[in-house]
Amino acid sequence: MSHNVAIDGPAGAGKSTIAKQIARRLGYIYVDTGAMYRAMAYYLIQNQVDAADQEAIAAACQHADISICYQDGEQVVLLNGENVNAYLRTEAVGNMASVSSVVPEVRKKLVELQQKLARETDVVMDGRDIGTVVLPDADVKVYLTASVETRAKRRFLELQEKGEPADLAKIAADIEDRDYRDMHRDISPLRQAEDATLVDSSDMTIDQVVERILELCR
Ligand code: C5P
Repeated sequence: MSHNVAIDGPAGAGKSTIAKQIARRLGYIYVDTGAMYRAMAYYLIQNQVDAADQEAIAAACQHADISICYQDGEQVVLLNGENVNAYLRTEAVGNMASVSSVVPEVRKKLVELQQKLARETDVVMDGRDIGTVVLPDADVKVYLTASVETRAKRRFLELQEKGEPADLAKIAADIEDRDYRDMHRDISPLRQAEDATLVDSSDMTIDQVVERILELCR
């Protein structure tokens, strides 16, 4: 039986940074499920599918074959065989991912892929519905969150470091919108699983969060 760690939480809580380190420390594979939803969103944008048209999204997603592989320890998302990692981290793709991930056909496809990966290997998987839907029997479940203010500031600094234009108020408003959509959708809304441990990283360093979660894994 493979061992699984599930980490859920809202956008910008630091899930991927933390999950990557946990995976390295435990010798598990890190699976970033948000990147899969982003790859699907990228496909939809490339094919000019209307974000408001759920039927069109449901139809279009059948033509997007998504899989992952690892290069130098980094997860690479393949969209119809092509490495699309370089296109996934934009606000436009993030917003389209949040909108298109409410479509049942999109979720079904990606959840199946995620469950297969977790059956075959020891994984640290992060997302929104990992502890609740994808891996209800995960060995360890964490709900990682931080205040909107903290998350917006982190994202702002990230963009500034990359030399990209950033507007703190706009970032905070986008985060609130995305939280709302992720928490209020009909299928697989973002919520803390009953058996998940809440970790609020607002006033914690990355190392402190990593140690806290490793303690839960021991
Ligand atoms: O985590 P990340 O910001 O990359 O995820 C992008 C979007 O994909 C989220 O806003 C969410 O709507 C969706 N998502 C999801 N379920 C997951 C992971 C991500 O619905 N397990």
